[in-house]
Amino acid sequence: MEFLPSRLSRAESDALVDRIQKHFSEHGFGVWAIEVLNLTPFIGFAGLTIPRFSAHFTPCMEVGWRLAFEHWGHGYATEAARLALGYGFGTLALSEIMSFAAVTNHRSRAVMAAWDAPRS
Ligand SMILES: CC(C)(COP(=O)(O)OP(=O)(O)OC[C@H]1O[C@@H](n2cnc3c(N)ncnc32)[C@H](O)[C@@H]1OP(=O)(O)O)[C@@H](O)C(=O)NCCC(=O)NCCS
Repeated sequence: MEFLPSRLSRAESDALVDRIQKHFSEHGFGVWAIEVLNLTPFIGFAGLTIPRFSAHFTPCMEVGWRLAFEHWGHGYATEAARLALGYGFGTLALSEIMSFAAVTNHRSRAVMAAWDAPRS
């Protein structure tokens, strides 16, 4: 959580899960739980979400990711991001998907730089 506003308490983490589930209910999509087959059922999340805050680039669709530290360095976020972009540009027929990170969050920016967004 180094580059995010703060670490989450259990209650805040549970509230985040509630918001993710509500996002799926309202929009039909959201951030997906990431499973590594035959290894572990949940290493983090990645996917599409509609930011709740206001900025010069909102309203927009965001692709984002967050993995447990012990699962960094395997390309999972990059793989998940590509699938999310394929879903957004393909199934949802979006014309634009945004991503943003702290300037110093080099690992997140590397995921963005690795994109080879499939467009239909
Ligand atoms: C952002 C975050 C998901 C990136 O994790 P990551 O492990 O660096 O990214 P990936 O899963 O795509 O893995 C890429 C790494 O796997 C390596 N890798 C191994 N096999 C790979 C493969 N088949 N394909 C791609 N990369 C592979 C890459 O070389 C790279 O390692 P390196 O940076 O040491 O060279 C992670 O740092 C994180 O969860 N951060 C905290 C939350 C956060 O900041 N979220 C973003 C907020 S804007």
